Amino acid sequence: MRERDMQPDHLVTVADFQEASRHAISEPAWDYITGGSGDEITVRANTSVFEERRILPRMLRETSSIDTRTTILGAESGKPFAIAPMALQRLFHPEGEIATARAAARNDIPFSLATLSSIEMAKVVEHGGQFFFQLYWLRDRGLMAEMLAGAETFGCRAVILTVDAPPLGHRLRDVRNGFRLPDDVYPANIVSEDDEAAESLRDSVDLTFDTSLNWDDLEWIKEHCSLPLVIKGLLHPDDARAAVEHGADGIVVSNHGGRQLDQAVTSLEVLPLIREAVGPDLELVLDSGVRSGRDVLLALARGADSVFIGRPALWGLAVAGADGVSQVLGILEAELLDAMSLSGTRTIAEAKELAVW
Ligand SMILES: Cc1cc2nc3c(=O)[nH]c(=O)nc-3n(C[C@H](O)[C@H](O)[C@H](O)COP(=O)(O)O)c2cc1C
Repeated sequence: MRERDMQPDHLVTVADFQEASRHAISEPAWDYITGGSGDEITVRANTSVFEERRILPRMLRETSSIDTRTTILGAESGKPFAIAPMALQRLFHPEGEIATARAAARNDIPFSLATLSSIEMAKVVEHGGQFFFQLYWLRDRGLMAEMLAGAETFGCRAVILTVDAPPLGHRLRDVRNGFRLPDDVYPANIVSEDDEAAESLRDSVDLTFDTSLNWDDLEWIKEHCSLPLVIKGLLHPDDARAAVEHGADGIVVSNHGGRQLDQAVTSLEVLPLIREAVGPDLELVLDSGVRSGRDVLLALARGADSVFIGRPALWGLAVAGADGVSQVLGILEAELLDAMSLSGTRTIAEAKELAVW
């Protein structure tokens, strides 16, 4: 990239931010964001599947005013997208999760606090905004109960249980880079900096995960937390049906951005099957591969109620902290408004009626 193209004014797409962020942080940190598991077949498929879809636009629909307001998992949102749960954001900028959450609030969208946040949840929520809490199933039940109580106290709108990640996928870029956490970055909801445990987590944060997770465990979460329970990481329609039977209030259809099972199907492909399995009323969020406002529209048209923004927010964070994230969110919003107006789509309800191939 030329020097001139790195200036914020010249960054006009998510792809521009992806490229600029490469020069803003260390290569192992950039690889940690951008890479996935195995041969990264699913990482590539996640974006190409959106590119292969086509929108069938409607005309003469008086699109002089477009309304993108909606609710996402119980949170009011100015747009049909929210920030995905993403671990250890101080790897990419000193202000980490606080910067990303501030940008989310500024853009009137919710932010997902992650179990593996590099800043304690209490310190992130202080800055205001609307939040979800993402839970990894940990061996330490006491710690989970504490975090769930915190999520309630801090006014989170939902608990998002991530079920596709015990254990973490085999990410070959990280292996080749010998990637380990620097001394000042650690999962702050789980350990403190001087904890002996922090040292052992530098090589593999999933040491704390309990891989015995099964459907019966949802009951434990419901006993310890009254917030709506959302399951993140389902791809099979039968699992979606099981989630409904076990009382889930929503599903995030996700392959974890291709960071877990390589060659897993893409979220966009299976979305219509999942919508058919759960019926029209259960809330479905899609993530994995959303890179433009058009992608947001495509996901809604294929059955999602909203989407999560993952890597694009972190590329923005790496380039310019909260301002970088905000700029990325602004690009997505402008592209969404443009695609809605050019396809005769005035509301989120109409976006769900749009035909796509
Ligand atoms: C650096 C990074 C860290 C992540 N950490 C978590 C996490 O702690 N918990 C979780 O449920 N998902 C995590 N994810 C997955 C995201 O929530 C989301 O599913 C994924 O990023 C979507 O793919 P995309 O970013 O390619 O659109 C992480 C993703 C990235 C890129």
